[in-house]
Amino acid sequence: MSIVLNPEAIAAGLSEYWSPRVIGEVDDAYYVKVAKIKGVLAWHSHDDEDELFYVLRGTMRIELNEGTVELGPGQMWVVPKGVRHNPVAEDECLVMLIERKSTLHTGNVVTEKTRTIAEQLADHLGAAETSTDL
Ligand code: NI
Repeated sequence: MSIVLNPEAIAAGLSEYWSPRVIGEVDDAYYVKVAKIKGVLAWHSHDDEDELFYVLRGTMRIELNEGTVELGPGQMWVVPKGVRHNPVAEDECLVMLIERKSTLHTGNVVTEKTRTIAEQLADHLGAAETSTDL
């Protein structure tokens, strides 16, 4: 059964920065994730996958080789596949992400912030605790 989720509330409840949490999936292709971010992630790219950022609370920027995309609450931007980017949040920010299931959140680099898909799925069921069952 499908349940109603509050992505902002789930993101607010995350205890670790830059550790995305899967909250849903679309067909067999995409994960919907939320994350609490602060500071700098890492320069990386996704050769074959677009990556959607939607800001739920706070502000962030996505640094690119040519310019910077600034995002505030309710704003979204899709990082095109193959484009090098570096997500940054000066202050705590809550975001929702839509990514292909194969997408690694730090792309082609591995840092201490890198989390496996399994780790991102860890509390998938726990997310229901902050939802309303229909
Ligand atoms: Ni990325």
